[in-house]
Amino acid sequence: MELIRGISLMILALFFLHGTEADSSNNSGLLYSDYYKESCPLAEEIIRHNVEIAVLKEPRMAASLLRLHFHDCFVMGCDASVLLDNYGDIVSEKQAGPNNNSIRGFGVIDKIKAILEDACPYTVSCADILAIIARDAVELRGGPRWEVQLGRKDSLKASFNGANQFIPAPNSSLETLIKNFQAQGLDILDLVALSGSHTFGKSRCSSFRQRIYNNMDEEFDYYKRYKIFNGMLRSFCPRSGRDNAVIPLDFITPARFDNKYYINLLQGKGLLISDNVLVTQDHEGTIVKRVWAYASDQQLFFNSFAKSMIKMGNINVLTGEQGEIRRNCRFVNPATPSK
Ligand code: HEM
Ligand SMILES: *[C@@H]1O[C@H](CO)[C@@H](O)[C@H](O)[C@H]1NC(C)=O
Ligand SMILES: *[C@@H]1O[C@H](CO)[C@@H](O)[C@H](O)[C@H]1NC(C)=O
Ligand SMILES: *[C@@H]1O[C@H](CO)[C@@H](O)[C@H](O)[C@H]1NC(C)=O
Repeated sequence: MELIRGISLMILALFFLHGTEADSSNNSGLLYSDYYKESCPLAEEIIRHNVEIAVLKEPRMAASLLRLHFHDCFVMGCDASVLLDNYGDIVSEKQAGPNNNSIRGFGVIDKIKAILEDACPYTVSCADILAIIARDAVELRGGPRWEVQLGRKDSLKASFNGANQFIPAPNSSLETLIKNFQAQGLDILDLVALSGSHTFGKSRCSSFRQRIYNNMDEEFDYYKRYKIFNGMLRSFCPRSGRDNAVIPLDFITPARFDNKYYINLLQGKGLLISDNVLVTQDHEGTIVKRVWAYASDQQLFFNSFAKSMIKMGNINVLTGEQGEIRRNCRFVNPATPSK
């Protein structure tokens, strides 16, 4: 039913969305796009070059790097807390449920940070590196480019509990996802646009097993192709075992940043429960309307995605005298005697 309603509203939506896309990328003036212009003019170029190398070596790395920025921003804000290792009082976020055996790309960050420390010591924050890398990673796989806002400082602590609490689980209901994003100052439309990140990268069996064995999406049951898809997933991912085996989030174009994610959703082929609920639990039709719009207009998706990424990149940033510029992204700076 929702889908039929969605179809009938699609043309209206397309017409309507183009004209009213409000400027939601308000960054409250804390960050600036030319922040390192004087202090480290080559920063963005250095980062770009090294992301390119990493992504050429392994295309999936683009997705992994984008995800790092997301997992950073949702826990105490975009402050590079996700990069801290266990050390002293620090309990790393890396072993929290949503991250353990899942987030990756730390070697790429280490390499880039080391080069930047050579070029301009104590200048470019790890939190900004994550934001620039996320932008470049998306663009390198065919996605949009945006002016990345800079000037974040790095945190002095991590939050293991925060990572468990604030990063949404793959079996979340739509209501939970909406609340989760609202807690970060992100709205429903940000949720729809940012979920489009699942147009590339991979997921472990353990992240989507519930979706293929609990059969929540009865709505799609009458689609033969949905059953075939589910059967394929089941043969790859048995009821138990193979927890860490990975499969693409988007089967049409696994390594490209495009709008195929939304086409998948409309066919019941979102890999995660949290993907499918965007269309199966949207009782008001707002989200389904957006999904249709993005599925039929990639540029519209790209524009929304860029705006929502800038918004996400502004969550609770540390600026000015807050935090520090870490020398090594894995550790807070060693205490130095105060002057
Ligand atoms: C809406 C709530 C979200 C949920 C529940 C969610 C959950 C997940 C899960 C479970 C995986 C697979 C991880 C694994 O099995 O190891 C994943 C992968 C990924 N997620 Fe999300 N995610 C969400 C939103 C986002 C957002 C907002 C972004 C980026 C802005 C994002 C970017 C990615 C990327 C790029 C991957 C692939 C990573 C790789 O291949 O290494 N996700 N997500
Ligand atoms: C941006 O947000 C800040 C604080 O929420 C507000 O004071 C300011 O007016 C907003 N600016 C724009 C251009 O919307
Ligand atoms: C993280 O994963 C490792 C290896 O699978 C496991 O031994 C460990 O208990 C996990 N840590 C947490 C905190 O769950
Ligand atoms: C999500 O999965 C976890 C176990 O992985 C389970 O404890 C929880 O009840 C599930 N939540 C929902 C909403 O199904």
